[in-house]
Amino acid sequence: MNIVVCKNYDEMSLRAAKIVAAQIKEKPNCVLGLATGSTPEGMYADLVKMYKNGEVSFKEVTSVNLDEYYPIAPTNDQSYRYFMNQHLFDHVDIDKANTNVPDGTAGDPVAEGKRYEELISALGGIDLQVLGIGRNGHIGFNEPDSKLILDTHVTDLTESTISANARFFASANQVPRQALTMGIGSIFKAKKIILMVSGVEKKAAVSALFERNVDTNFPATMLNLHPDVTLVCTADVLD
Ligand code: PGA
Repeated sequence: MNIVVCKNYDEMSLRAAKIVAAQIKEKPNCVLGLATGSTPEGMYADLVKMYKNGEVSFKEVTSVNLDEYYPIAPTNDQSYRYFMNQHLFDHVDIDKANTNVPDGTAGDPVAEGKRYEELISALGGIDLQVLGIGRNGHIGFNEPDSKLILDTHVTDLTESTISANARFFASANQVPRQALTMGIGSIFKAKKIILMVSGVEKKAAVSALFERNVDTNFPATMLNLHPDVTLVCTADVLD
């Protein structure tokens, strides 16, 4: 695993944005795997600035997002489709038809998982996947479990994730209890991965990565098996 240590959140955001922009420069029609949550917000703000300065264009880019709550409408301001529009898609020249987020309104979530997995394969996999990490070690909504599912699927959220995400909702009981998420295998179809981590509360999660044991009860440890992962983190995560 490559490691880029940054002095603070702003530097982490800019370093990650530069990695994404370099990927687009190298392959303008690349497939970007995108993530939501607090961690990548600054990176998206930097990418919007870079677009406005003429440093990067998303015209030919296709995106696939990691996950989405289920059920949830795209107009709900807590949906990940809404997040992506608000933080990136509405401010850059990406063709919205080429942006993909699992459909939180699908009648049959199992079929939606299958459709999404086929879409990722049909795109030829992901060139660069952006990831965050949950305090419980989840990546996407692959929650700690005795078994991990390879393909995109519908999953129950753990109490730990529901309470961590309750800060975005009026109350914990408004957090959807399920989500659609890329599986570990879908994520591993990415040629390159950047894992963004900021803040002391993620320190234990990062330490678990460095122990280099692979444990399905801490899904992020699977990243030790991927050949091209770059951890872009703030220094306090490593203290
Ligand atoms: P966060 O979420 O960026 O909001 O901390 C990351 C995650 O849970 O994967």
